[in-house]
Formats: sequence, C-alpha cells, structure tokens
Amino acid sequence: MLKNKVAIVTGAGQGLGEAIAKTLAQAGAKVAVNDLNPDRAERVVQAITAAGGEAVAITADIGNKFQCVHLVETTRDAFGSLDILVNNAGIEPVASILKLDEWDWDRCIEVNLKGTFMMSQMVGRVMSWENGGRGGAIVNIASTAGVNAPLENRAAYCAAKAGVVGFARECAREFAQYGIRVNTILPGIFDTESTERLQADEAWLARVQAAIPLGRLGLPEEVAQTTLYLSSDMSSYMTGATITVNGGMR
Ligand SMILES: NC(=O)c1ccc[n+]([C@@H]2O[C@H](COP(=O)([O-])OP(=O)(O)OC[C@H]3O[C@@H](n4cnc5c(N)ncnc54)[C@H](O)[C@@H]3O)[C@@H](O)[C@H]2O)c1
Repeated sequence: MLKNKVAIVTGAGQGLGEAIAKTLAQAGAKVAVNDLNPDRAERVVQAITAAGGEAVAITADIGNKFQCVHLVETTRDAFGSLDILVNNAGIEPVASILKLDEWDWDRCIEVNLKGTFMMSQMVGRVMSWENGGRGGAIVNIASTAGVNAPLENRAAYCAAKAGVVGFARECAREFAQYGIRVNTILPGIFDTESTERLQADEAWLARVQAAIPLGRLGLPEEVAQTTLYLSSDMSSYMTGATITVNGGMR
C-alpha cells in the first residue's frame, strides 16, 4: 500500500509512535524513526529491519528548529524523498494550574504544538516544491484532551493539543493546493508506557473502563491502523478531518 513512499514518524521510540512506524513499514514505506532518545529509536529500527522492512533511526528534539532540519535532511539523504509525516511526539507535564511551572508550560507547547508547526512547515516545503506535484500526507496525533475530554492536572497538554487541532485545520486548507492532505487523530486512552503508572491504580482503571463503551483501553495498533488509512490513497478525498479513536467515550 505504501511501496516507494518515505515516512517520518516523530517520537517513534515507544508507544503509539512505535506502532505507527512498524505499521507504515509493514505496508511498504521506508520509515525515519525519530526520537529524542537514541536507544529507543534504534530498538524500533532493529525490529522493523528484522521483520524485513526499511528504517533509519534519527535522534532529534522536535521542539528545536535546527534539529527538525536535521531530521528532514537526514531522511532525504537516506531515502531520497518524503511523502508522509506523522507528528506524534508529545509530552505531558502533570501539575495543577495553580502549581504548573512556566518552563513546563513552555516546553509542552514547544514540543506538542510548535514542533507540529515546524515539522509541517519544513516537510510541507519539500512536498510542495520538490515532490513533482505528487504532494503528500500529514497525520497529526492530537488527543481528545484537546477537544472534549479535559484531563486532570494537564492544562498545558490540553491547550497544546487544542492548538494542534486548530493549526491542522488551517494547514489542511493552505496545503490542499499542493496536493498535501492533513488530517488529525484524537486518541482517547491507550495502553502505552505513558499510561502504565495510571493503569497501576486499579480504581482509576476500573472507572475509566466503565466510562468507555467498548470497555477497554485502546491498543497502539488501533491508532496505527487509522494512521495508515490517513497516510495512504484509501483516504484520498480526506483533508482537514479530525478522527476520534477512543472506544466511544463521551
Ligand atoms: N497514550 C495515550 O493514551 C495517548 C492518548 C492521547 C494522545 N496521545 C498522544 O500520542 C502521542 C504518543 O503518545 P505515547 O503515549 O505513545 O507517548 P510516550 O510518552 O509513550 O512516547 C513518546 C515518545 O516521544 C519521545 N519524545 C518526547 N519528546 C520528544 C521530542 N521533543 N522530540 C522527539 N521525540 C520526543 C519520547 O522519548 C517517547 O519515546 C503523543 O503525542 C500523545 O500526546 C497518547
């Protein structure tokens, strides 16, 4: 499905990003596995390669413009083009608004929101000017926390993810003329490393499972499959869409 396509997945060293990178590679894409943590990215690349796929690990901080340039240029050097960008890297400082440190607020906006802008801008330039009219697909991993499900002690995260949703809508409108589709996924609560500590709290887990009509947390592969759909021609008439993947939670 993605044969001869080149994809960048940010924050792909574990969790949802890891599942997304593996799924895109399985579908035939060559994948740049980005993470701030080099060991995590390398581990995912080894798994993809062992399964017969093609991938390269690229360490970069998505909140830093120069490191985003490094990520984009190293991907192009490795694979020669760029067709898919998945803006997945995200962080989630935990503190009440009354105690939230200004630095944590700034860093959260920098990685989740500004990182999405910088990567979309840089990759958008490549896709619009150098892809010979082929365009491309950008998929943003936001969160229901940015839209209709505020998360306790995570105000900066909620604000950043709401910002991603707004940015992505305008990005879709502006990039449509270049054949670049931009869509956004709103995951609910998933069984990943980042929710492990929450899941260890049995009362929390029982309360959350009861509130999810499908009765369980999501699996990373379930966001990865939606990402594959939005990255491929199966969704060729979709742009500016926001898709909720949350087991039906309201
Ligand atoms: N897990 C969930 O339940 C859930 C729900 C809704 C949305 N999301 C969103 O999905 C995305 C992935 O979530 P996850 O649970 O897999 O997260 P995670 O914390 O398990 O993994 C994120 C990865 O991104 C990397 N990373 C962090 N900052 C980075 C930076 N500045 N540059 C590059 N890489 C960086 C981390 O090293 C880590 O490997 C995030 O954007 C998150 O907000 C997750």
